[in-house]
Amino acid sequence: MKLKITNRIIVCGKYLNELKLLAELEHDRIFCRHNIEHFLNVARITLIMCSQKRVYADPDVVYSAALLHDIGRTDEYISGVPHDEAGIRKAEVILSEVGCDEEMKEKILSLIGSHRNKIGDDCSLEEIFYRADKKSRLCFCCPAQEDCNWSDEKRNMKIEV
Ligand SMILES: [Fe+2]
Ligand SMILES: [Fe+2]
Repeated sequence: MKLKITNRIIVCGKYLNELKLLAELEHDRIFCRHNIEHFLNVARITLIMCSQKRVYADPDVVYSAALLHDIGRTDEYISGVPHDEAGIRKAEVILSEVGCDEEMKEKILSLIGSHRNKIGDDCSLEEIFYRADKKSRLCFCCPAQEDCNWSDEKRNMKIEV
């Protein structure tokens, strides 16, 4: 059986190098880190929210976008380029390398490109992904809360029950 794109990404050398560099650059970061745990949380929360809202989402698209959505952080730390923009460029290269088709690539890049901005349409996958990214953070018990530049709208101050 053909491997899903998600499972091709996690063994892609270029992707693993990005993760390694990101971990090095965030070694002393006091705020949330952008690691595999965050990426998987974003994917899982997105899929839970989609099922609650009865919004269709291909799990392979969601996991792939979640795995790749913050890889532009390395460029942001090094040269100040916004990480959503840098992330699209890096993700495009990785997705081509793992043999992702154009239609799926377009959906994944759209999620990466919009993950920092609220769209407003509660039932779009982009909006759900944006909110899952924020909900994946433990702002309510974060020791760096006072120094964080996140707006109240972005902060995750409660557990959804
Ligand atoms: Fe991000
Ligand atoms: Fe994120």
